[in-house]
Amino acid sequence: MSSFKPLVFSGVQPTGNLHLGNYLGAIKKFVALQDQSDCIYCVVDLHSLTAQLVHDDLEDQTRQITAAFLASGIDPMKHIVFNQSRVMQHAELAWIFNCVARIGWMNRMTQFKDKAGKDRENASLGLLAYPSLMAADILVYRATHVPVGEDQKQHLELTRDIAQKFNNDFSGRIAARGLGVEMQVGEETVQGYFPITEPVIGGPAARIMSLRDGSKKMSKSDPSDLSRINLTDDADTISKKIKKAKTDPDALPSEVKGLESRPEADNLVGIYAGLADMTAEQVLAEFGGRQFSVFKPALADLAVEKLAPVAGEMRRIMADTTYVDGVLRDGGERAGALAEATMRDVRSIIGLLQD
Ligand code: AMP
Ligand code: TRP
Repeated sequence: MSSFKPLVFSGVQPTGNLHLGNYLGAIKKFVALQDQSDCIYCVVDLHSLTAQLVHDDLEDQTRQITAAFLASGIDPMKHIVFNQSRVMQHAELAWIFNCVARIGWMNRMTQFKDKAGKDRENASLGLLAYPSLMAADILVYRATHVPVGEDQKQHLELTRDIAQKFNNDFSGRIAARGLGVEMQVGEETVQGYFPITEPVIGGPAARIMSLRDGSKKMSKSDPSDLSRINLTDDADTISKKIKKAKTDPDALPSEVKGLESRPEADNLVGIYAGLADMTAEQVLAEFGGRQFSVFKPALADLAVEKLAPVAGEMRRIMADTTYVDGVLRDGGERAGALAEATMRDVRSIIGLLQD
């Protein structure tokens, strides 16, 4: 009996500017995982239609996320970088998963509730089915590990539920075709066609908060630009935003426990730790007892040192659209071949006639 080969998949939507939360919570992890496994990184353009159908510059937004991936150090030759809509098998598998998943599962998603707001009847059907497409993105490659920020945890649990239900509902037909793979889920050894994917969440930067309000996550949609550091901000802007970040009047504690109920301080320490590849403990060992008048300039210098080269490289790459488009085309071809191999199995398992 075979077992699943480790494979990393993740996606980022081409909507708005990338910010420090995206970088530390997701992209930096994408880069780190390249040395351990094969990785597939996707600009999920179809997902960006769920909240807003008409975009003036979806092409450029897609190129911008691609440039951020490349500028951060993702190697498109060793791994795969592409935009989702090129590989139509994502949408095909999403349809099948729409028939596997239950409406109740979708209705429970906090992101759907937040994004749909009060007028749920008027949200797009795509917004409700969003997690089904996300499960298809991952499972069309039978990926085993998915690095994301904390906010995506619930969607990944749903991905596991969809894989499990498919494996159970079709267990006889999977076994009859010899397509079952053995896997360890908790204590149990089970068999199925789709892996039960592991989220890769955690570290000090899994949830970066707004610089203006430590109770809100740093987000593309916050009306205040001072609430976030954009990956395209220049050195002066980065420094200014950190110096203006909300804090409290106390010095930094020397223990992590002292950050409890100090959300802004906790956030800035987490950002420092994420940028420096340190733990919060290590940051406090260095800065415990210091005032923000000392910590903020050190954080600003660190942020500029780490982010300004990425921004510069992004601008350089963005200027060469032929190169960027070539990366996406080549990645799409390689991803498409892998996805089609899965779909041939899936069609056969379900009983959809094909040649
Ligand atoms: P999105 O821009 O919503 O497609 O998010 C891209 C990735 O960034 C996902 O893995 C998110 O979980 C992650 N992310 C977004 N905002 C934050 C944040 N404030 N802190 C940490 N990770 C985040
Ligand atoms: N939902 C993710 C976000 O908003 C983006 C995404 C789409 C994704 N498909 C994915 C992330 C598959 C990981 C794996 O951040």
